[in-house]
Amino acid sequence: MPIPLIERYRDRLPLEPGDPIVTLCEGSTPLIEAPVISERVGARVLLKLEGANPSGSFKDRGMTVAVSRAAGAGAEAVICASTGNTAASAAAYAARAGLRGVVIVPEGKIAIGKLAQALMHGARVIALRGNFDQALEIVRALADRHPVELVNSVNQYRIEGQKTAAFEVAEELGEAPDALAIPVGNAGNVTAWWRGFGELSRAPMLYGFQAEGAAPLVRGVPVPEPETVASAIRIGNPARWEEAMAAFTSSRGRVEAVSDGQILDAYRLLASREGVFCEPASAASVAGILAHGLAAPPDHPPPETVVCVLTGHGLKDPDTALGKAPAVIGCEAELEAVERAAFAG
Ligand code: F0G
Repeated sequence: MPIPLIERYRDRLPLEPGDPIVTLCEGSTPLIEAPVISERVGARVLLKLEGANPSGSFKDRGMTVAVSRAAGAGAEAVICASTGNTAASAAAYAARAGLRGVVIVPEGKIAIGKLAQALMHGARVIALRGNFDQALEIVRALADRHPVELVNSVNQYRIEGQKTAAFEVAEELGEAPDALAIPVGNAGNVTAWWRGFGELSRAPMLYGFQAEGAAPLVRGVPVPEPETVASAIRIGNPARWEEAMAAFTSSRGRVEAVSDGQILDAYRLLASREGVFCEPASAASVAGILAHGLAAPPDHPPPETVVCVLTGHGLKDPDTALGKAPAVIGCEAELEAVERAAFAG
């Protein structure tokens, strides 16, 4: 059984001595080689499988810390705006801690698995007739008016918990990789990884990737009506904009856009050739290095080791998967018919 993240990194996390540890044994996720992608980009590529966290995404790293602190501080409820994964994770940890959970999601724009999770964990799910950016603005105002803990990544404890992914990768490789490729939505996760590497002796170049229709950091202006198949990163005005841009600059990396077509190609490639089923937003990290290569500044050697962060599990979004997958083959219950169906052609 993995050690709860808070126990593994207690000395590097800002909890109070009396805080309860609200855990589902998150973190300690696999870091695996990706031979097919490595071959294509001409470098050693590894995948950090954050979908292996208890609720199926990296959000659990931040949520264990944020909800432990909220419980320690006497909060009765947690609230968040979400494109789905934060909602699922907040609902799970709130249930675990015996707190009420309220999650606000853009109506009709979150993957069905995430919705099922939030509802099953007993959160109050509010479907906003608006987008994520509007939902975040509203929950920020609500958190000022009510005694609830806001657990979006504007919450410092979320970032602190999520920085532990950088510790794990550096421990496993012996040092930080040369580059880290990561999907960017509200820009909390890239901020967290950068903070984690900042607490170590070496930091990678950061390659951030946004979906073309939701790429405010690439364009340099907010996108009022973001649109992409990667619903998790359908965000037009990231809360951690400045910090993320500062991280890309200091790391000598970059932030670039990938099209929905490129995201879906990488999504299928990961599933069919590497055996890894992630959600579309997660595949943006791999789509990015396939589309843009592994560029480095002229006075910087090209990266030899690259870690792609696969942020969430593919089972979160079965609709997108089934919409892109080959058809199922129907068959009568007869040996010859099954034989034909299985092996002919
Ligand atoms: N990948 C997945 C699967 C996500 O769910 C998110 C964000 C990101 C990448 C981007 O991370 O926002 O820290 O830059 N999901 C949030 C949510 C917004 O509400 O679940 P970020």
